[in-house]
Amino acid sequence: PESKLELHIYSIVLLFCLHRSFSCELSINGDSASQIVILLSQIRVNSIAVVRMKSNTNDSYDQQDWFQNFSFGEAEAASGVEQVRVGQALYKAASLFNHSCLPNIHAYFISRTLLLRTTEFVSGGCPLELSYGPQVGQWDCKDRLRFLEEEYFFRCWCCGCSEVNESDLVISGFCCVNPNCSGVVLDNLVANCEKQKPKVPETISNESHLQVHELKDIDIKKVAQISLDQTQSSFHFDSGYCLKCGSYCNFASRSKEVKKAWTDFRRLQDSIASKDTCSTNLPDALRSLGLLRSILHAYNKGIAEAEDILAKAFCFIGDFEPARDHCKASIEILEKLYGPNHIAIGYELAKLASIQLALGDCTAVYIIDRLSAIFSTYYGPHAGIIFPYLLVLERERSRIIQ
Ligand SMILES: *[C@@H]1O[C@H](CO)[C@@H](O)[C@H](O)[C@H]1NC(C)=O
Ligand SMILES: *[C@@H]1O[C@H](CO)[C@@H](O)[C@H](O)[C@H]1NC(C)=O
Ligand SMILES: *[C@@H]1O[C@H](CO)[C@@H](O)[C@H](O)[C@H]1NC(C)=O
Ligand SMILES: *[C@@H]1O[C@H](CO)[C@@H](O)[C@H](O)[C@H]1NC(C)=O
Ligand SMILES: *[C@@H]1O[C@H](CO)[C@@H](O)[C@H](O)[C@H]1NC(C)=O
Ligand SMILES: *[C@@H]1O[C@H](CO)[C@@H](O)[C@H](O)[C@H]1NC(C)=O
Repeated sequence: PESKLELHIYSIVLLFCLHRSFSCELSINGDSASQIVILLSQIRVNSIAVVRMKSNTNDSYDQQDWFQNFSFGEAEAASGVEQVRVGQALYKAASLFNHSCLPNIHAYFISRTLLLRTTEFVSGGCPLELSYGPQVGQWDCKDRLRFLEEEYFFRCWCCGCSEVNESDLVISGFCCVNPNCSGVVLDNLVANCEKQKPKVPETISNESHLQVHELKDIDIKKVAQISLDQTQSSFHFDSGYCLKCGSYCNFASRSKEVKKAWTDFRRLQDSIASKDTCSTNLPDALRSLGLLRSILHAYNKGIAEAEDILAKAFCFIGDFEPARDHCKASIEILEKLYGPNHIAIGYELAKLASIQLALGDCTAVYIIDRLSAIFSTYYGPHAGIIFPYLLVLERERSRIIQ
């Protein structure tokens, strides 16, 4: 059920049905209707979506053929993180796990069986936490909080949502107007969300005992000058000002330019989708990439997305060298946002490896080693079942090594 109204309608219908079948035990009144509403809501928040990887690649595909007929489209379909929901079920034990936007366990399905693996070393006494959907690197903090609030009715206090993180600062940030400054400029909504993180006042206070914290935040220091001197504490989280040097930038006009640049990428995507190879959209999109890079922060996720679209476009016209460069540029940003060993990076590395193989580039071996390691962390012995394309890449890898 989507809305509260729907939920009430469903529960009344269900109540009537139940009443017809077991008329003596159930009465139709407000109390029983609201009890059913509560039950339905409980089922909803505790159930888990059963997903399957959507993948076009056939395991038994002849690999030789595959590389001759190489198209990034296939690699992308195979490496796309796209998951299809095939059901919704209650898992008694798994529903006990709490959520974190920086989870240390990963859930996946083999048919209907839910499997859970830790993705990092977890010391004794530390809670095992699962993501209910949103993760750091995927969305910024305000979007994660809103999703969890709407779908699961709680305010997330995980370490991703209660501590300032480089990823959340830069993911939708703008760059500083000062060309020598690596600082980030936040919009209003993001700035407000960051201000509300309880650990912010602590990090930006001027007390010396926070030295330890400062060292941990070395990455953050590259984009924001928090946790330092007296005079510049609260002003730093204001929107429109660079968090590092304090320069002001005119937000409204820059946002408009970004929007305009995106229309070029949408057009390019459309022309790829309609298999229009001789289009003039590519030079336009390249120009717009330059524009995005001059306005958005270097680690803004939008740039990664734009680079990815360009990589796809160059693959599409069979020009693999620029495709490789754009693909690498996209991965570089995503590594900043997700961390280098996240499964999202694994899927992107699969694209990069495909392009390298198409170019006959032997460094594909290292990329395949890296993505194999990521997949085995997240899927253990099931990596090849979940992601059959991995087996194609691993076969190519051993062929190169011989
Ligand atoms: C996979 O390949 C096999 C043999 O080439 C073929 O029989 C089968 O239909 C293919 N499956 C899919 C889903 O394409
Ligand atoms: C590759 O392309 C050739 C001719 O273009 C075609 O005959 C063959 O079936 C294709 N193979 C695959 C696996 O798509
Ligand atoms: C989940 O969080 C609640 C509240 O913080 C805590 O009481 C509970 O023990 C946690 N459950 C697990 C399985 O970690
Ligand atoms: C940026 O740095 C270069 C060399 O480090 C310097 O010459 C230039 O004046 C600086 N520009 C600004 C605006 O600070
Ligand atoms: C900085 O420290 C001084 C003295 O310890 C204190 O009075 C002042 O309020 C502090 N400033 C901030 C911004 O925390
Ligand atoms: C910040 O997020 C990254 C993932 O993007 C994670 O690896 C890192 O541990 C986080 N840092 C903190 C202090 O939570």
